[in-house]
Amino acid sequence: MSACRAAAGHPTRPLVDGSEIPLLGLGVWQVADGPECVNAVRWALELGYRHLDTAQAYGNEGSVGLALRQSGVPRGRVFVTTKFYPARRDPAAEAQASLRRLGLEYVDLYLIHWPQGGPTWAWPGMERARELGYAGSIGVSNFDARELEQVIAAATVAPVVDQVQFSPSEYRRALLQECAHREVVLEAYSPLGTGRHLAHPAVKRIADAVGRTPAQVLLRWCVQRGIPAIPKSTHPERIEENAQIFDFALSDAELAALDALDQTSSTQRARERKWW
Ligand code: A2P
Repeated sequence: MSACRAAAGHPTRPLVDGSEIPLLGLGVWQVADGPECVNAVRWALELGYRHLDTAQAYGNEGSVGLALRQSGVPRGRVFVTTKFYPARRDPAAEAQASLRRLGLEYVDLYLIHWPQGGPTWAWPGMERARELGYAGSIGVSNFDARELEQVIAAATVAPVVDQVQFSPSEYRRALLQECAHREVVLEAYSPLGTGRHLAHPAVKRIADAVGRTPAQVLLRWCVQRGIPAIPKSTHPERIEENAQIFDFALSDAELAALDALDQTSSTQRARERKWW
């Protein structure tokens, strides 16, 4: 973990290609394009977030870009991710279209959103997007250990991130180990279980014990291990709460109690079912 950007935002983790990803980002899956998304991004940037995660499939890249440009935060201080919608054919052309919607010259990270049609076909187009300067880093999302292995075997430039559903209840330990082995950073989406895990009695008990909220405990569980997490909220007080996770630590026993909530049997899988 590096402190290099910490003064401007939050601690970062190096990626193997030399760039750095802030450990906390605002996720905008299921945030409506327009004022809801613009406001959430604006509040996050005001509150010190320096990492925004969107996707072509979310339909809100325009709002993310608008809020970023209006914020006055220099472009180079914010890490922006978008994702290739894999029902389309050409990742480089789609990246260019994303940049037009975002009103940006590049994204920091461009991910294949899921391995539709197999794990390797889109990768040459992702590499091309990077070569053309549309993306600083490239990676994947929702890729199992085996799919990751296949794309790495086929790659000239390997993916640096695999973004997957990840939380104590979805503690995909074998996938995390495979990522570490392959120098891929596993990034956690739905770190609050889309809100479902906040009411878990064990999470609440630990939150009470450490004097924090359930959301902060779930997010701390990720970032304490150097796992970037991108919680979604459209409420300023929650966006703020979710960022107060770098001034306390969970004990080994608390981490272990959270680890024990895993429902995936330590899987190497990235997802329990296909949605495409
Ligand atoms: P909202 O957007 O209305 O604030 P995840 O990041 O795992 O997808 O979870 C997002 C869900 O959790 C959303 O429904 C969001 O609601 C809710 N949420 C996010 N942060 C908090 C928080 N600090 N406290 C309670 N609920 C939260």
